[in-house]
Amino acid sequence: MVLDELDFAELYRQQMQQAGRSTKAPEHWDARAEKMAEVCANPQDPYLLQLQQKMSLQGASTLLDMGCGPGSVCLNLAASLTQVYGVDYSRGMLEVAGRRAQGLGLHNVTLINKSWEDDWSDIPECDLAVASRSTLVADLRQALIKLNNKARLRIYTTHTVATSFVDVAVQRAIGRPVVELPNYIFAVNILYQLGINPKVDYIRGPNCQNKTDTFEQFADSVSWSLGTLDDVEQQRLFDFYQQKRRLGETIVPPSRDWALVYWDKTTTL
Ligand SMILES: C[S@@+](CC[C@H](N)C(=O)[O-])C[C@H]1O[C@@H](n2cnc3c(N)ncnc32)[C@H](O)[C@@H]1O
Repeated sequence: MVLDELDFAELYRQQMQQAGRSTKAPEHWDARAEKMAEVCANPQDPYLLQLQQKMSLQGASTLLDMGCGPGSVCLNLAASLTQVYGVDYSRGMLEVAGRRAQGLGLHNVTLINKSWEDDWSDIPECDLAVASRSTLVADLRQALIKLNNKARLRIYTTHTVATSFVDVAVQRAIGRPVVELPNYIFAVNILYQLGINPKVDYIRGPNCQNKTDTFEQFADSVSWSLGTLDDVEQQRLFDFYQQKRRLGETIVPPSRDWALVYWDKTTTL
């Protein structure tokens, strides 16, 4: 079978390398924790609502939320489960998650400071394992294996459908080299090559960082993903914004779609 000649885990690593994507330090996320709690962890966030609707809690009493950030998934589900574990390598994110758990009066949330790459032997096995918007790791195959092995019943992961966080037209307009990242297709194929046949569903909805009512909001959302823009880039972005406005065109696609790649635990890898 010609497909078997392709090593999707290796292709994933190559795509990450081509994108110049180095593993981000936890400090990168520490700095985003407060804002992320505001924009992405709101219980009414359409992404979270759709994800939760597609997850089955049947027969489950424990949940592992890997890359939990401000606790977006585990805090929302804590009331329906006996115990939830939120794991993240960013202490800043865990601080925000802890504060939010306290504010919500939740006493069944355990927060663990670990990375995807660490030894997980002291992370408890859970009925459900989730990795929401936290799967852009250096070695996706290893990450999927680790998550699978920690779950007793079901595993849920989400990945971008698009290959870039910032619209390619915007990247071009400001003069940055276009960076494309591995999307969900890699996860599906890596799982297939591990002997797992995952289900795929889609979460469609507004991009929570995608505010374009004013140029300042738009510039903020672009630099959230691309880092600080220099003066020349800022000017180019402004020209792009003005031109789109003049033509009555949408500034950037209004939605960010996520693929939910999920499966029942059938085997320990
Ligand atoms: C986009 S946020 C997603 C947060 C949350 N799961 C959600 O859906 O709102 C990505 C999270 O993954 C965490 N993360 C990124 N790389 C990681 C790694 N190598 N090990 C552990 N956590 C990581 C970041 O600290 C951040 O909290």
